[in-house]
Amino acid sequence: MKKIILTGDRPTGHLHIGHYVGSLKRRLELQEKGDYDEYYIMIADAQALTDNFGNVQKVKDNVLQVMLDYLAIGLDPNKVTFFVQSEVSELTEFTFYYMNLVTLARLERNPTVKEELKQKSFSNNIPMGFLTYPVSQTADITAFNATIIPVGDDQLPMIEQAREIVRSFNNLYGEILLEPKAVLPENENAFRLVGTDGKAKMSKSLNNCIYLSDSEEEIKQKVFSMYTDPDHIHVEDPGKVEGNTVFMYLDVFSKPTDFAKYLPEYKSLDELKDHYRRGGLGDMKIKKFLNNILQEFLRPIRERRLELEKNSDKIFEILKKGTMKARKVAHENLIKLKTAMGINYFNN
Ligand code: TRP
Repeated sequence: MKKIILTGDRPTGHLHIGHYVGSLKRRLELQEKGDYDEYYIMIADAQALTDNFGNVQKVKDNVLQVMLDYLAIGLDPNKVTFFVQSEVSELTEFTFYYMNLVTLARLERNPTVKEELKQKSFSNNIPMGFLTYPVSQTADITAFNATIIPVGDDQLPMIEQAREIVRSFNNLYGEILLEPKAVLPENENAFRLVGTDGKAKMSKSLNNCIYLSDSEEEIKQKVFSMYTDPDHIHVEDPGKVEGNTVFMYLDVFSKPTDFAKYLPEYKSLDELKDHYRRGGLGDMKIKKFLNNILQEFLRPIRERRLELEKNSDKIFEILKKGTMKARKVAHENLIKLKTAMGINYFNN
């Protein structure tokens, strides 16, 4: 069986460090390991339109921004096929047949959809396109026979739903589809990286993000305005590490070598945490440390991004080339799907 990786993002804004630790990092690791036959990364513009149908321009503009983020972190067009969802029209056809295999009630129970509906103001006027996007996501995956899906853990219900649709299809029409599996990050704090406000998951709509494209000054300002422990008022007060945004970030981003480099008085994160708990360690010091770590991580990404930005034609060429390939593959698999269903009238 071929090893096929597929994943994607909705182009609704620049990607942030929550995306990085939640999924992009894994994608890079998979790329570097090279243990795959095909690797697709899709810009899910059609899916983004399901809740941005009134704002096509925003979605369109962000296709380039997301591509810049991908390339800036080191995803490599020689190893990965990048494509635009809306340009592969076969995907809508897959979706149309899969719609018959899912009930309205099942879609309404999808935890991610439910969560998103809560945040939107559709009230009782939920657009069908939005409610059924998990079905189209199943199409995205199965149109390429992908089984390895590196995503953040918010996408687990989507993968589960895809597996159900695959099973229903195979039961009815024969075993032709493969069940996909999610590949999650290693560090649990990275599953849903908390926003800089410490309240909820990092998310553009909550304005609590550090973007991969942020300037040095923006990063600094965001780190220094982070919440720590509200009861840690004086340096000598004992402080809480759990639920402390700065420590949650240090858990995810600090490496053992960062201590010698930026904070040589401590040997490890555990030592730093112990001191904070005991009292006598000020917030400024841990914020400075985190700022140094994030600056070092984001500087090369930002610089590469600025360089890539100068030549957006080249980026669209990469995307076009990938999209042509994706069309071809999706088309071949669509013929197989319809043949399995017995709705090929003129091919034989
Ligand atoms: N739902 C994903 C997100 O919001 C984007 C996406 C669309 C996707 N189709 C996909 C991810 C297929 C993995 C596989 O980021």
